Amino acid sequence: MEYTTLGSTGMDVSQICLGCMSFGSEEPWMLDEEEGREIIERAIDLGVNFFDTANAYSDGESEEILGDVLADYDRDEQVVATKVRFPVGEDTPNASGLSRKTIEQELDDSLERLGMDTIDLYQTHRVDPNTPPETTLEALDDARRRGKIRHAGTSSMWTHDLVEQLRTSEREGLIGYETMQNHYHVAYREEERDMLPLCDKEDIGVIPWGPLGQGFLARPFDELERTNRGDPENFHNPTPEYERGGGKEINERVQELAADHGVTMAQIALAWQYQNEYVDAPIVGTTSVEHLEEAVEALEIDLSASDVAYLEEPYEPQPIIGHE
Ligand SMILES: NC(=O)c1ccc[n+]([C@@H]2O[C@H](COP(=O)([O-])OP(=O)(O)OC[C@H]3O[C@@H](n4cnc5c(N)ncnc54)[C@H](OP(=O)(O)O)[C@@H]3O)[C@@H](O)[C@H]2O)c1
Repeated sequence: MEYTTLGSTGMDVSQICLGCMSFGSEEPWMLDEEEGREIIERAIDLGVNFFDTANAYSDGESEEILGDVLADYDRDEQVVATKVRFPVGEDTPNASGLSRKTIEQELDDSLERLGMDTIDLYQTHRVDPNTPPETTLEALDDARRRGKIRHAGTSSMWTHDLVEQLRTSEREGLIGYETMQNHYHVAYREEERDMLPLCDKEDIGVIPWGPLGQGFLARPFDELERTNRGDPENFHNPTPEYERGGGKEINERVQELAADHGVTMAQIALAWQYQNEYVDAPIVGTTSVEHLEEAVEALEIDLSASDVAYLEEPYEPQPIIGHE
């Protein structure tokens, strides 16, 4: 495994973050505790030390599963990231958002489900238009002072929103966001316009979600619906969106390069992430040990500059996906 320093946090994280959205029972493609344990344990065997979950994933079950498994390991070696913003269960008053009340309640619940005293990286999952940034940042700052979180990160938003948050932290002397978990892969590169250069300048760690285009880049574009998760009945199927803006051609070029390098499509899509100058660690979601092993093996793939240019060439600007 290769490790990198996550933005300004100083924490060493594996170049692969294990996404834990697939643990729980809310969707038919999710894994229960026993199956989830197999993936997490194998990830640790392979040197993965960075895990991403959220309070809302399968209504808290993802945090419980991750916490139960990590309890058998040395906590000091693991970097655990979770999120707040969306409700756990029904969206009753104060169940969601980024008010002080919601953050304090949700943070305590996340700590309990994870069975931990502190969260290494506590991320706001989206902007909350009803709460001023000062209020959210003050609550996060207090949480850090109380030792409940070590660092704050955030997730998909407009660049101008992140600028506002960073300025607020600086002006008020509050905790600042040190990581950005954004939507970014070779068939969706809108983040290169402003967000990624901003993160680079501010030393904000970049940990993209959906690095495989949520499965789109892992198989020929006309085969996604054949998978359990790709079935539109089971999950919002992103294929029609990713097919825009040169997406079909990018998918075909991923297939071609996979054949040339003798690897899988998913490995080409991940090799592109690992070699990307902006990315610290893509957050890979998988329900299969074999796919996890492929993700780790892909760290060995050396894409040439012309391979990268070939993959990127068909891309055309497209509407934003994932800020809402
Ligand atoms: N911040 C946010 O708003 C946000 C949004 C979405 C996700 N996330 C985070 O990002 C993580 C990853 O997101 P994601 O799961 O949506 O996207 P992803 O990692 O791009 O894609 C996952 C999909 O790719 C498939 N896959 C993975 N490896 C494969 C391989 N080697 N061969 C073939 N198929 C493969 C998986 O199928 P198998 O299960 O069969 O391997 C799954 O259907 C989540 O777990 C979560 O932690 C955050």
